[in-house]
Amino acid sequence: LSRLYIMVKPDGVQRGLVGEIIKRFESKGFKLIALKLTAPGKAHLEKHYADLKEKKFFPGLIEYMTSGPVVAMVWAGKNVVKSGRVLLGETNPLTSAPGTIRGDFAIDIGRNICHGSDAVESAEHEIALWFPEGVAQYDRAVDAWIYE
Ligand code: GTP
Ligand code: MG
Repeated sequence: LSRLYIMVKPDGVQRGLVGEIIKRFESKGFKLIALKLTAPGKAHLEKHYADLKEKKFFPGLIEYMTSGPVVAMVWAGKNVVKSGRVLLGETNPLTSAPGTIRGDFAIDIGRNICHGSDAVESAEHEIALWFPEGVAQYDRAVDAWIYE
């Protein structure tokens, strides 16, 4: 089992897509272990996207990400990083398949409504950054009906 950090970006919150995004991860069978609405400052987002610091779009990205509150979550499950990225779709909504979150709800790369960690290691790094208080731990009886 692994863990994935996802975040509904300010445009996703403004457009009322928080429930829709939660619903897709819930319906898939993943387990929600942390959730909060938060509006972190520039410094925090610069840490989150530190690997993109040299990109031309970086200032615009930070401005976008600090333009309103975000909804931060951690989901747990088998192959949740890979599977979660499939649920999200491609970075560019234009090439995201219908049926994916970005494919269904977004048009521009700079307004792609949801973030998801790109690897198990970056997920753990992002979980520590966004949930220093820790995440929940609980058992679900339904897991016996999701995993063989
Ligand atoms: P995240 O889940 O947000 O990390 O997206 P990603 O992993 O699919 O893409 P990446 O980490 O490479 O880029 C992070 C974010 O920067 C993207 O989700 C976009 O919002 C933004 N971004 C990436 N490339 C571009 C670009 O070429 N132009 C613009 N305007 N934004 C970009
Ligand atoms: Mg990324």
